Amino acid sequence: MGQSWIADELAAIAAAGRLRRRPVVEGRSGRTIRLGEGAPKGRLINWAGNDYLGLSRDLRVRNAAQREARRCGPGAGAARLLSGGLRLHRRFEERLAGWLGREDALLTPSGYQGNLALLGAIAGDGDLVILDRLGHASLYDGARLCGAEVVRFLHNDPADLERQLAKPARRRIVCVESVYSMDGDEAPLRDLRAACDRHGALLVVDEAHALGVLGPEGRGLCAELGVAPDAWTATCSKSLTAQGGLLAADRDLVELVVNRGRAGIYSTALAPAAAGAAEAALGLLHERPDLGRRLCERSLDLRGRLRAVGANVPEGRTPIIPILVGDEGSTLDLANRLRGHGHHAPAIRPPTVPPGGCRLRLSLSLGHRDKDLRLLVEAVRTCLAG
Ligand SMILES: Cc1ncc(COP(=O)(O)O)c(C=O)c1O
Repeated sequence: MGQSWIADELAAIAAAGRLRRRPVVEGRSGRTIRLGEGAPKGRLINWAGNDYLGLSRDLRVRNAAQREARRCGPGAGAARLLSGGLRLHRRFEERLAGWLGREDALLTPSGYQGNLALLGAIAGDGDLVILDRLGHASLYDGARLCGAEVVRFLHNDPADLERQLAKPARRRIVCVESVYSMDGDEAPLRDLRAACDRHGALLVVDEAHALGVLGPEGRGLCAELGVAPDAWTATCSKSLTAQGGLLAADRDLVELVVNRGRAGIYSTALAPAAAGAAEAALGLLHERPDLGRRLCERSLDLRGRLRAVGANVPEGRTPIIPILVGDEGSTLDLANRLRGHGHHAPAIRPPTVPPGGCRLRLSLSLGHRDKDLRLLVEAVRTCLAG
């Protein structure tokens, strides 16, 4: 029989205006999207994707996915430590490690699991995990799950980090992103590294949104600033347009995650198609080293044009462009009106952002056409004008 508390819990979420639905995507072209049931008919320009470099349409990437699925099957067939570890996985790891100048790398089924596996392996009872307040849920969840004490420091504030680092603990692990997913701003990595060094703490940097975008050949903000984190993580699901989690570090640290990272050990290895596509996309970053720079130039241009029509858009160069609104009602209203003008730019609300921090989050891609940007700016102008 049904448990009535489940319906009660859902009703409470709905009463708070926070009930989420699963939008069904009927069609996608890379830059456009067609949504099912209840959505306006026709295609919308999609500002909510993660395909920053537009590589999802690249034939080399698509062919690599097909080739590996044909060669190895639709799934890896088992966990990595049993019989799911393919030559393809290891080749990709060696290539990634070489490209980043690290001793070794590890591919996990998703970026979320990768962060869980990492923290589960390097932190535990008696340790202190110190997270940037705006860090990704996978860092939080990994920190909570591993049994360490978890504290937060003020966003991008090395002085506050220093205060937290003074707390006693067996080991201290600091987790940050290099580019933050909801604000698109960048972490002061040199100062954070220096604070960690002063306290003998490990630094974990999640470069999910910087891979492919910042640094030489898109190697990320750590590479751009010459900062070496103790553990570098990222995902294949954004610029690399596929799926899978990435870890790069010293050999021993990677071995420890292989041996102790339960989120990796007890899960089937990454599907061959995803690994093949991500590997091909990584090769394209190497061959076309200017992609990230071109995207940042485009972002600077779009940010300026949005500001010129009255949008509250912060300074920055990354492809994550927030239009800050504030309260939930006005943000939903702006998102709905933009949809009426042919743009899919969903409202971001609590708990993803703090109350009062509601926004539209635009995700710019090299796959967008100049005309898409022009239409967006016009639509924002019209919506903000009344
Ligand atoms: C900063 C950050 N870390 C980790 C993840 C998780 O990556 P994945 O989608 O591969 O699970 C994401 C993606 O949403 C992210 O934004």
